[in-house]
Amino acid sequence: MSEPIDIKDIEGVGPATASKLNEAGFYSIESLAVAPTRELMDKVGLTYETALKIAEAARRLVKIDFITAKELWNRRSSMIKISTGCDSLNELLGGGIETQAMTEFWGEYASGKSQLCMKLSVMAQIPKDKGGIEGNALFIDTEATFSPQRIYKMAEALDLDPDKTLENIIYARCYNSDHQLLIVDNSFRLCHEENIKLVVVDSLTSHWRADYIGRETLSDRQQKLNMHLHKLLRLAEIENLAVVVTNQVQANPATFFGDPNRPAGGNVVAHASTHRVLLRKSRGNTRVAKITDSPCLPSEPEAHFMITEDGIDEAPDKEKMK
Ligand SMILES: Nc1ncnc2c1ncn2[C@@H]1O[C@H](COP(=O)(O)OP(=O)(O)OP(=O)(O)O)[C@@H](O)[C@H]1O
Ligand SMILES: [Mg+2]
Repeated sequence: MSEPIDIKDIEGVGPATASKLNEAGFYSIESLAVAPTRELMDKVGLTYETALKIAEAARRLVKIDFITAKELWNRRSSMIKISTGCDSLNELLGGGIETQAMTEFWGEYASGKSQLCMKLSVMAQIPKDKGGIEGNALFIDTEATFSPQRIYKMAEALDLDPDKTLENIIYARCYNSDHQLLIVDNSFRLCHEENIKLVVVDSLTSHWRADYIGRETLSDRQQKLNMHLHKLLRLAEIENLAVVVTNQVQANPATFFGDPNRPAGGNVVAHASTHRVLLRKSRGNTRVAKITDSPCLPSEPEAHFMITEDGIDEAPDKEKMK
């Protein structure tokens, strides 16, 4: 567990303001540097001027506003990757799941989204020379499909201590979209203190789709979802952790040609996701993964993998031909 950075070092933050900031979930200079002014006002009860001043002072301390491209290069160089444990998937992902980014797995039911998230929660924990990043995982489960039994099996298959592996995954069952927002608010402190290096949201959009029904609620829904996604991205950047979200498909009845299915959540999710990966079912337990949007990963070739008793594995060669 690393010590939280002392926010009392920020100009204009006395002990009283520091404890109010702590209570509102702001524990590090980085979290203050990237917090919207409105959030500081609403959650901490600061005036506009004070909120602005504190955020500016925090930004100066972490040097966030103006940096050289070389400094950005250095910052990005601290990015690390979590292996999926499956070579063909790693290759597709340019080595694995990146920290400081949000990776979205989308696809129809039983395409393997949750299985992959569970496997990553195990892989994140293993030593760096074996493909892990030696961190813990936070699993935000909106559909009650997380299975500790599956984690146990996956850990055993990797010769890990299954009990310890389970201990290192913090589980949050999420009941509605407001709860989902709250869990992510509270996770800033948790991730900082508990060495969380992977945050999973499985699934990202199910509650939003259920809680907001009808066209008239669309703008409110998209605004809150946008806020949620930006918080996740901020978390990924300031804690150098990987965010992995799953997303369901949404049928678009207006499509006459091509695939009528697309990921739910519209442009808001499309813009926030760094890498989008489509999973689809193939023969038996074989699944196919394809990059559908990424600033640096090619959309071809696809990767084949299998869901097995032990987790996620390489597909046998003959299966790849299907
Ligand atoms: N122990 C196991 N051995 C082999 N395959 C398994 C095992 N457990 C689950 N599976 C397979 O995993 C698939 C379910 O995958 P998963 O739960 O990841 O789907 P999903 O994409 O998350 O779907 P949804 O959209 O419904 O949440 C099923 O086809 C199931 O047969
Ligand atoms: Mg699932």
